[in-house]
Amino acid sequence: MNLILLGAPGAGKGTQAEKICEHYNIPAISTGNIIRAALKNGTEMGLKAKSYMDAGQLVPDEVVIGIIKDRLAEDDCKDGFILDGFPRTIPQAQALEDMGIQIDKVVDIEVPDETITARLSGRRVCAKCGNSYHMIYKFPKVEGICDACGGELVQRKDDAPETVQARLVEYHEMTEPLKDFYSKLGKLTVVEGQEDVEDTTKLVFAALED
Ligand code: AP5
Ligand code: MG
Ligand code: ZN
Repeated sequence: MNLILLGAPGAGKGTQAEKICEHYNIPAISTGNIIRAALKNGTEMGLKAKSYMDAGQLVPDEVVIGIIKDRLAEDDCKDGFILDGFPRTIPQAQALEDMGIQIDKVVDIEVPDETITARLSGRRVCAKCGNSYHMIYKFPKVEGICDACGGELVQRKDDAPETVQARLVEYHEMTEPLKDFYSKLGKLTVVEGQEDVEDTTKLVFAALED
């Protein structure tokens, strides 16, 4: 199954992608995570993306399209994949079509802007392995420490309130039109993101099994 998760920053794409990955045993591919890893490794692509990311703006299409092309060519994608955070613009969606990638379903997780702002201020990520936690919804066993690797939990630079606002503007302007794009192709299901991760997961799985 080839899937796309759509939704605003902080809607819970990464959280739900993880659940789908476990259940269907297909890789979850987050362009955000790939870019952050590149940044950490100091690659040229990472450095190019840094200023955009830090400002809450989208990284240029050609950069992310290149990333996805390489990633989808890897062996583990042959039985399916979940795209989390790609496509985010019409040209990116068009690039997938041009690559001849068949998309089965697109699930859009809808969460109001006010909820997003509050949610992202509570997110903490592991500086070492990137695992995601939340001060209210997903507390680590020991405060400030990653359950998985013992790394230090930090706030993502682009989770600062003013940067979240910039990300929301980019989302509404550049990414939201994709709902119409995939709806016209008959592939879109919209689910309301709930205040509970498990409740959202139930809706997402119902959409996938439909
Ligand atoms: P990226 O890393 O993709 O970030 P994003 O999409 O802005 O959003 P998040 O990852 O913050 O949100 P999410 O929906 O995954 O939510 P999560 O599950 O973590 O992109 C970052 C940047 O990279 C972009 O700004 C851009 O610069 C660049 N980029 C990436 N892809 C690009 C592309 N295709 N084109 C151009 N540029 C690109 O959940 C958020 C928090 O809420 C967590 O703490 C979680 O625990 C909690 N939570 C989740 N679900 C619930 C729930 N139901 N109830 C309560 N809390 C919840
Ligand atoms: Mg994410
Ligand atoms: Zn960790």
